[in-house]
Amino acid sequence: MPNDLPESSANRAPLIKAQALLSAMTLDEKLGQLNQMSGQAASISPHLRSLIQSGQVSSIINEVHTPTVNNLQRIAVEESRLGVPLLIGRDVIHGFTTIFPIPLGQAASWCEKTVELGASIGATEAASQGVNWTFAPMIDITRDPRWGRIAESLGEDPYLCARLGGAMIKGFQTDSLGNSNAIAACAKHFAGYGYSESGRDYGFTNISENELRNTVLPPFKMASDLGVATFMPSFSDLNGVPASGNEWLMQQVLRTEWQYQGFVVSDWASIKDLKVHGLTENDEHSAMLAAKAGIDMEMVSDCYSAHLPELLEQNKVPLSQIDLMVTRILQLKYSLGLFDNPYTNTADFAPLANGEHLQAAKEAATKSCVLLKNEASILPLSVKNLNNIAVIGPLADDKYEQLGTWIFDGDDHYSVTCLSALKDKINEQTNGSAKVHYAKGLATSRTLSEDDFDEAIYAAEQSDVAILVMGEESILSGEAHCRSNIDLPGAQSALIDKIVATGTPIVLVIMAGRPLTISDIANKVDAVLYAWHPGTMGGPAIADLLFGDAVPSGKLPVTFPRVLGQIPIYYSQKNSGRPATEATYMHQNDIPLRAVQTSLGMVSNHLDTHFTPLYPFGFGLSYACLSYSDIHLSDEKFSKQEAIEVSVTITNNSQYDTEEIVQLYIRDLVASTTRPVKELKGFKRLPIKANSSITVSFEIMSELLGFYGQENTYITEAGKFHVWIAPHSATSHYKEFELID
Ligand code: GLC
Repeated sequence: MPNDLPESSANRAPLIKAQALLSAMTLDEKLGQLNQMSGQAASISPHLRSLIQSGQVSSIINEVHTPTVNNLQRIAVEESRLGVPLLIGRDVIHGFTTIFPIPLGQAASWCEKTVELGASIGATEAASQGVNWTFAPMIDITRDPRWGRIAESLGEDPYLCARLGGAMIKGFQTDSLGNSNAIAACAKHFAGYGYSESGRDYGFTNISENELRNTVLPPFKMASDLGVATFMPSFSDLNGVPASGNEWLMQQVLRTEWQYQGFVVSDWASIKDLKVHGLTENDEHSAMLAAKAGIDMEMVSDCYSAHLPELLEQNKVPLSQIDLMVTRILQLKYSLGLFDNPYTNTADFAPLANGEHLQAAKEAATKSCVLLKNEASILPLSVKNLNNIAVIGPLADDKYEQLGTWIFDGDDHYSVTCLSALKDKINEQTNGSAKVHYAKGLATSRTLSEDDFDEAIYAAEQSDVAILVMGEESILSGEAHCRSNIDLPGAQSALIDKIVATGTPIVLVIMAGRPLTISDIANKVDAVLYAWHPGTMGGPAIADLLFGDAVPSGKLPVTFPRVLGQIPIYYSQKNSGRPATEATYMHQNDIPLRAVQTSLGMVSNHLDTHFTPLYPFGFGLSYACLSYSDIHLSDEKFSKQEAIEVSVTITNNSQYDTEEIVQLYIRDLVASTTRPVKELKGFKRLPIKANSSITVSFEIMSELLGFYGQENTYITEAGKFHVWIAPHSATSHYKEFELID
């Protein structure tokens, strides 16, 4: 009997029940609990029925036809010997039928409440259809916008990712997994997936243990501490050992160091992939390595079902390991209350995509949009001085594309597009006197033909302002959808040039699953609002923001490079021994002929691009005019047993009420391993009324200043630090304090 499962009080009863049930199981029934099979699109084949009847299926993925889900559960509960119910898994990544902004967009809200609410609505809608397990949050850190899965991520920073990933877990799991609107969450992809070489998916990652522990692992540690129900390994090869066979990661880190109690499900056939990676010779070898690593359930492939019996026979996998794996899975099924309530009655839940859910999706989209440029305060627009408004672009009126990637159960019937929302708003505010001139300009975001430009040019020529809605179709980001060039696709840039040539002021709205390289474009237009893929209610959110019925408050969760060649570029970089500075920087076009080799300053930069990003992490404009006072320190020195308070006063010199995302950064000036030039260590999203001020403070204690050092243990070292309380990561004004032993 496995009794080395660490117990928390919440897990005790389910654990005891799981251990009791385990003792009644045959070996076949135990092994059956390790298998997840794919749904069959609202049908149940005789083969699947018989497997469930013989206890050989533990979970079904991708079945959301509720009557079929209930039938599957009934076969498991009423027609198998022990009646063990099924886990029904589905990717509810940013909503179920009501689609919220993609996670990267939600991260731009820096709002735990918003993210938690979105996850809880996704969970409620999914649970109403019979789903009781989702494969989210995705908490991979990445600094490479070529990688398509950056869209699913919560950005480049471990602190922001941990806080928002935690909010998602709470939203999915609620305060008890036994609640009818709770579904089990899954921390993925463990670990290092976002470092895939050249931004190609499923790739090789070469990450030092020090970088893993300081940057990649913290969000997963948070998830483990928070009690996330399950983990999922990444497809990627971590330093030569793919995660699904990586005993150091799954046993040493997850089980021994973190004492994680939940279970680990493989990614889609990721155990079978171990052979393709070249880690194993065959499926039997893969099953052995994965079981020993501690992958408890196999997603859809059959290495376990085909080979664990003989591996047990040959004592290559101990029965005690199998018992542990099965107990973890049964424990979750008890925690979810599935033995007592295996069936779903949709009538017990509010309707999908109801008004309340759609309103929440609109609010999330409103908070997620980031205002990157607002030349001469062209925004907010006012209908008072607009008689003709052009709305142009391939994404201005596309109900589907604004939803983004991973929207298996999204329904674009509910989508409200930019064009529709702008028309409603303008007609409502001008009683139809102002005219909206719509032209798509391009059939899709990838269209190269300029045949439809004339209509768009004409619309702009007729108008006082041109609102362009452009970017990437949703298929250009997400899993396996990586791009080696992250400019606007197709002929969109050419279309923008044509609209610029009309002289009509331009407001550019970009919908995309990643940062795009928009340096040239941004220089040519008057305003840029980055909407990510904003989800079902993106249109009304964007219309409110453009016309001032809402004030932009989003801030970037990821750095925007000027050009592709800067990647990876991120705010929390190391200083290097020769950092670039404004004083040394000279563009290659300005270098004098026959310049002496050392005349340019021997520093870390590219000759053809400024060393800073186009837009830094944490950046976002508002309509309000906010100013930060000097930082006040309660003390300039403190010991490891003490704390200090740092504070600023923020003044809103405008007539706009707003919310400001105030960011706390520190820098450890000297340490036994080099530390980043800045690290986010706190943030608050706070309302600031028009023409008012607020004082914002943060407490700094020694734990906040720790890091994993050369021994890869968490340490705090005395010494001097810089601290910023700032509107974004590129502000220069700081104060210094000292931590003393
Ligand atoms: C996919 C993804 C993973 C997802 C799983 C189930 O390949 O990598 O994130 O949860 O399969 O769809």
